[in-house]
Amino acid sequence: VWGDRTRLYQLLDNLVSNAVKFTAAGGRVEVSARTVDDWAVVAVSDTGIGIPPEDLERLFERFFRASGAAAHAIPGSGLGLTIAKAIVDGHGGRITAESEVGVGSKFSVELPLTASGGRAGRPGTR
Ligand SMILES: Nc1ncnc2c1ncn2[C@@H]1O[C@H](COP(=O)(O)OP(=O)(O)O)[C@@H](O)[C@H]1O
Ligand SMILES: [Mg+2]
Repeated sequence: VWGDRTRLYQLLDNLVSNAVKFTAAGGRVEVSARTVDDWAVVAVSDTGIGIPPEDLERLFERFFRASGAAAHAIPGSGLGLTIAKAIVDGHGGRITAESEVGVGSKFSVELPLTASGGRAGRPGTR
């Protein structure tokens, strides 16, 4: 991936620290990376508290915290994912979230493998 190393570390740190924070002891956090066409696809998944469907679309809004975060008294500012999305956008990529309450969450990041990779189409579309 052609990009800003410090920012890409920050992106992964935000996603992995969320996964750890929102998963109780004994749960599982998994990080995977693969390439699909000209894209790097990195996924961080966990077996944590999950996110209600009505909150999923607001996750990347500044200061937004899903209802479970307060209910479980898990501290945070609601800025980490806003920053993560800004970093992904700055690299011409895309970030998405899937989740099920009580089962877990998965955040996927797609980043172009070269500076011009954004012209190659989304993973699996070629
Ligand atoms: N892995 C996850 N599992 C469950 N909820 C998550 C996870 N990652 C993010 N969230 C939800 O998205 C909200 C926003 O995340 P973030 O911007 O990183 O804020 P925070 O400061 O709370 O970590 C969190 O407060 C939480 O409700
Ligand atoms: Mg966070």
